[in-house]
Amino acid sequence: MITVLLDKNRHDRNYFDCGVEELNNYLKLMASQQAKKDNTRAFILEDEERPERIIGFYTLTMTPIDLKALPVKLQKRHQSARSAGLIARLAIDQRYKNQGYGEWLLIDALRKLLLVSETVAFPLVVVDAKEGAIAFYKKFGFTPFNDTPHKLFMTIAAIRKSLVEAI
Ligand SMILES: CC(C)(COP(=O)(O)OP(=O)(O)OC[C@H]1O[C@@H](n2cnc3c(N)ncnc32)[C@H](O)[C@@H]1OP(=O)(O)O)[C@@H](O)C(=O)NCCC(=O)NCCS
Repeated sequence: MITVLLDKNRHDRNYFDCGVEELNNYLKLMASQQAKKDNTRAFILEDEERPERIIGFYTLTMTPIDLKALPVKLQKRHQSARSAGLIARLAIDQRYKNQGYGEWLLIDALRKLLLVSETVAFPLVVVDAKEGAIAFYKKFGFTPFNDTPHKLFMTIAAIRKSLVEAI
């Protein structure tokens, strides 16, 4: 399996339904425009038998780090850092849920961000979790920020360790 960049001429965005209207609409109406403007990148996991069908997607960009919302030890360690990688959205179509695709997509996003961080350094990856998905991210090692429980982070160091260990 591989993810590809969203292609509005190839991918049937209207068919996609993750159960969260905001995310469906983002994919339908915003993702392609935002990529064109270099604001975010949207990656698609296609159904191999019907490549126009979207199993799931995620979007990547950068976000400022709110140092005060981090544990003290990390505040000190990263006080000169300004930006984190952001998984802004990640969703699986309801017809493909509970088959391991969400986990696969999250790992794929983390691999991409880790690779980028080897060239342009940033110390954290942040996810913006919709209600109900916080436990999903915690399961994979993300920690909620002190002040915003729906925003979670994981250090690049921890991501590197867990991805290297998984090889
Ligand atoms: C959250 C979501 C991405 C999970 O995708 P999925 O393909 O159904 O999940 P997977 O099959 O890969 O599950 C992997 C593991 O996470 C667990 N898991 C899945 N969804 C979970 C949730 N909402 N909370 C806690 N754990 C969850 C599974 O039980 C599984 O655990 P196991 O390996 O011990 O069996 C998907 O339900 C979704 O798109 N939700 C709607 C959109 C959303 O909320 N996106 C996230 C924020 S933008």
